[in-house]
Amino acid sequence: MFDVEKIRSDFPALSLTVHGKPLIFLDSAASAQKPLCVLESVREEYLNEYANVHRGIYDLSEKATLNFEHARQKVRRFINAASDKEIIFTRGATDSINLVAYTWGAANLKAGDEIILSQAEHHSNIVPWQILQQRIGFKIKVVPVDDKGDFIFEKYLDLLNEKTKLVSVLHVSNVLGTIFPVKEIIRSAHKAGAVVLIDGCQAATHMPVDMQDIDCDFYAFSGHKLYGPTGIGVLYGKLALLEQMPPFEGGGDMIKSVSFEKSVWAEPPARFEAGTPAIMQAVGLGHAIDYVNQIGMNEIDAHERALCRKLQQAVGEIQGVRIIGTSDHKAAVVSFVTDFAHPQDLSMVLDQEGVAVRTGHHCAQPLHERFGVSVSVRASLGVYNTDNDIEGFIRALDKAKRFFA
Ligand code: ALA
Repeated sequence: MFDVEKIRSDFPALSLTVHGKPLIFLDSAASAQKPLCVLESVREEYLNEYANVHRGIYDLSEKATLNFEHARQKVRRFINAASDKEIIFTRGATDSINLVAYTWGAANLKAGDEIILSQAEHHSNIVPWQILQQRIGFKIKVVPVDDKGDFIFEKYLDLLNEKTKLVSVLHVSNVLGTIFPVKEIIRSAHKAGAVVLIDGCQAATHMPVDMQDIDCDFYAFSGHKLYGPTGIGVLYGKLALLEQMPPFEGGGDMIKSVSFEKSVWAEPPARFEAGTPAIMQAVGLGHAIDYVNQIGMNEIDAHERALCRKLQQAVGEIQGVRIIGTSDHKAAVVSFVTDFAHPQDLSMVLDQEGVAVRTGHHCAQPLHERFGVSVSVRASLGVYNTDNDIEGFIRALDKAKRFFA
């Protein structure tokens, strides 16, 4: 049974007080708090089973290698990939997307080609393509979102053609909360002969994701939003594609052999993991996956969706508030602006009430421009949020409104 009070007791940070008030943490879309069991497991393994991986034939190194590769298996099962070889550990989702841009992109895109992004993309799924575009000269086309924040599918179909080599879009928007119809997006892209990358940063933390079901070519997400450590992310890639791709970085562990005349690359995933990897961060991500699995991703999804509806309704009832992103298909995020305070000032007053929300453009400037604002306040949910958090947040928002009146 889903027991949110029990879940809250797993997260020591949720008992903190801020400015003398109990913390109401509504910024999990930026980074989630960590359950004690993840921190303790990592500490134990640092103390008892730590050495470099893939390098030693002594006991500690073998244990560390087993733990590291076991974490890869956990990720593979978590996203239902077909093989462990399709799971590449990176520093985070940004690193994963850059990896695809500079390996697959640099090897396969040429002048005259087109790639398709959406207007809602995080900067990490815009800028790497622009950097590559400056080198290669392909076209970037952008699918708009409508006034509710939904992906406009007809416009997407209009943009898709035989020149489209890549479609790279998010799964869930970090600003709007909109869940994009990725399965249909992927199916249409494949019909046009394009490869698809999905930025799953805000999806893999909130709902079950299934690589074989959605059939994407690449999928990127970060560990720290999934209750795991920072500095670890995942790039899923279909093995047939990964096998064709050149390496990202050169160094130890990504080669079969090295001579001054010629080096031969290792098979995936090692080919894309040069140098000592983020061993304990990967192991910690594995523990975080155990943690959410034991609650159940379907249960987490149901809890957060119900809470998100309540949050959106309560925020929307405050006079002078405009919600950015009102899709019927939303996950865990409510962003808004008000006519009574600048988002920055509002957040400072909310902070005095113990409420942690994010303010700014949330690394999505083109999207904010689309809605005619430069910044917004964002309240985002995690597995540990409750009705009480929402009530406390709304009380603080009301108080802030009176303060600015
Ligand atoms: N991408 C993260 C966010 O939306 C940092 O806050």
